[in-house]
Amino acid sequence: MFVSRFVIEALRAVAGTGLPRSLALACASLVALPFGPPVAIAAEPEPVVAPVPTLAQLADPEWIAAGRSKFVQTCAYCHGQEGDSGKVRPFRERKGWDPQLIHDTIVNGRRRGANVMPSWKASIPDDLIWKIVAYIHSLEGKPRH
Ligand code: HEC
Repeated sequence: MFVSRFVIEALRAVAGTGLPRSLALACASLVALPFGPPVAIAAEPEPVVAPVPTLAQLADPEWIAAGRSKFVQTCAYCHGQEGDSGKVRPFRERKGWDPQLIHDTIVNGRRRGANVMPSWKASIPDDLIWKIVAYIHSLEGKPRH
């Protein structure tokens, strides 16, 4: 394996310097430290991207219900349960709001001065983000009760 070969070569290199063997070994492992374990240095995996749903899928009551439940749990403390609160226009007043744009705002977040919309791509799977989009989309034109 690469790391052990590296340790052996490092050992050989310090052997000529007359250092005691244990010290040499300690030096060699220190040198090898940044190379292992492999999982620790692996880059963070890119989130899985779900296929873009059709408008029919976005209108699916099951998608809307699943999205609502996640929205109430995760987003409502800033936006209110039906998107009426917070720093943006109430979601129900939006007209012709592009689902892709809603999706991308949730994925990437947004910032306007001190108003920060966090990015959710690391914490919500993309298919669930689309269900949240379905819920937000379903609010359009919905009367207040
Ligand atoms: C910490 C508060 C906070 C949380 C939590 C939060 N948001 Fe936001 N959101 C904001 C702010 C602030 C903005 C406005 C940013 C701006 O002005 O550009 C925003 C903007 C948005 C917009 C764009 C609105 C528009 O009119 O263009 C959408 C859509 C949205 N949020 C959805 C969500 C969803 C879905 C969640 C939960 C997964 C969520 N937000 C959680 C604060 C939050």
